[in-house]
Amino acid sequence: MGNERDRMITAKRCAWRSHAVARRPPSTRVLSMHMWPPLGSLTTGWAAMRELARDSVITCRDDGYEVDMDSDRLDVGLVHHWLSTDAFWALGRTRETVEQSIRASVNFGLYGSGGQQVGYARVVTDLATFAWLCDVYVEQAHRGKGLGTWLAAVVRDHLAPYKLKRVILSTVDAHEVYAKVGFVPFPDPQKLMILKDAG
Ligand SMILES: CC(C)(COP(=O)(O)OP(=O)(O)OC[C@H]1O[C@@H](n2cnc3c(N)ncnc32)[C@H](O)[C@@H]1OP(=O)(O)O)[C@@H](O)C(=O)NCCC(=O)NCCS
Repeated sequence: MGNERDRMITAKRCAWRSHAVARRPPSTRVLSMHMWPPLGSLTTGWAAMRELARDSVITCRDDGYEVDMDSDRLDVGLVHHWLSTDAFWALGRTRETVEQSIRASVNFGLYGSGGQQVGYARVVTDLATFAWLCDVYVEQAHRGKGLGTWLAAVVRDHLAPYKLKRVILSTVDAHEVYAKVGFVPFPDPQKLMILKDAG
C-alpha cells in the first residue's frame, strides 16, 4: 500500500516536471510547479503538514538544481552537520533537536543536478496567519550562484496561496538575500518580544 502510494507520488512528480519543462518559456530561468491540495481539504496538525510536504512540490532550475519539499528525501545527517557546525545560530544543536524541528516544519531541500543535497530551509507555520522562515543554509561550494535567493523565492511562492498576514525571519548579515525576494526590515520591531530559553 505504502509502496503503491510512493509510486503514485513519484509518477505525479515526474509528470509535473516534464509538463513544466515542456511548457517553459525560453526566457524563464526558474520554474515552479505547484501542487497544493485544495485548502478546504486540509486537516489540522502535523499529519496535514506532513501530507503537504510529502505530496507537494518540486521546483526546478535550468541548471539542474531543484527544491523538493519531500521531508523523507532530506539527508538529515547532513542538515544536522551543516547547522550544528557551520550555522552560527545553531552551533551545537543536537541531532535529536534537528530531527524534531524537521518533523514539525514544512521543509525545503535544495538538491544538485546529481541529486545530492546542497541546501536546506524550513518554515514553521500555521498555514493560516503566519510563518517563520529559518535554518536557511546553502553548502559552501554552492554559494554565490543565486541559490540562497532562489530558495527564499521558492519558499515565498509556496506560501503565497495561503495569504498569510506575515512571513518573518531573523538574519544577522544576509538581509540582501531576502530583500531580493521582497522581505523588508520589520516596520515596528518595538512590538516584538522574546521568551528566551523557554523551558
Ligand atoms: C546566506 C546563504 C544562504 C546565501 O546563499 P547563497 O546561495 O550564497 O546566496 P546568493 O548566491 O543567492 O546571494 C545573493 C546575494 O546576497 C549576498 N549574500 C549572500 N550571503 C550573504 C551574507 N551572509 N551576508 C551578506 N550578503 C550575502 C551575495 O553576495 C549575493 O549578492 P550579489 O547578488 O550582489 O552577488 C549562504 O551564504 C549560507 O548558507 N550561509 C551560511 C548560513 C546562513 O548565514 N544562513 C542565513 C541565515 S538567515
